[in-house]
Amino acid sequence: MDKAKRKAIIAGNWKMNKTPKEATALLNEITPLVKDADCEVIACVPYVDLAAAIEATAGTNVKIGAENCHWAASGAFTGEISTGMLKEIGVEYVVLGHSERRQYFGETDETVNKRTKAALAAGLKPIVCVGELLWERECDITEEVIARQIKLDLWDVSEDELKNVVIAYEPVWAIGTGKTATADQAEEVCAFIRAQLAKLYNQDAADAVTIQYGGSMNDGNADELLSKTNVDGGLIGGASLVAEKFAAIVKAASK
Ligand code: 13P
Repeated sequence: MDKAKRKAIIAGNWKMNKTPKEATALLNEITPLVKDADCEVIACVPYVDLAAAIEATAGTNVKIGAENCHWAASGAFTGEISTGMLKEIGVEYVVLGHSERRQYFGETDETVNKRTKAALAAGLKPIVCVGELLWERECDITEEVIARQIKLDLWDVSEDELKNVVIAYEPVWAIGTGKTATADQAEEVCAFIRAQLAKLYNQDAADAVTIQYGGSMNDGNADELLSKTNVDGGLIGGASLVAEKFAAIVKAASK
């Protein structure tokens, strides 16, 4: 298992926070703080902030991601955004299957899979989120839940396409709750995800996939989480909205 084979990626998921003007201001604070990062740095921002975010990060090492995309190229899907629209303005990443989309907006593994395939076909890099509910962990079915999500969300994704996929392990009970998974819990599930990828593809392909941890990751716990063999980065909610905290996590990943 060679951690050095993989790109460390720290991504902010801003969720429904920041107007375009606020996005520009926050990115103007973040960019100088992370300019020497030895990892990939991404800000995934609300749709209406994307253009401002791309402008604010032009010429920097910060990449911009969206928080969702639709699978159809165009059509009668009121309120949705296509991969082509994102691509045309310079978006590089897209968060898919976040637990908040699954919980509040009817996202299923089938729709996550459709979005993932569409994103890959358009040349976007999907950050596919998986994770168990507290109830599922208590019932000791975390591995079944994760194995099912990985298999279904990546159904029909080729080994070549897998190179552009990032997986985010986000235990739902740790999101926005201040309850972080312990570094050992995060490592256990991230290692399990890699083992599933090895089964579905092969060990080399699995070893090359960046697997992030997400769920109350912050400047205080990032070091320990990121020290684990299979934790290759973080998907950061709350702490990504504070420039110094986000920069400290980027620094932890750059070691
Ligand atoms: P928090 O870091 O706020 O717990 O959110 C995690 C998350 O959902 C990132 O996608």
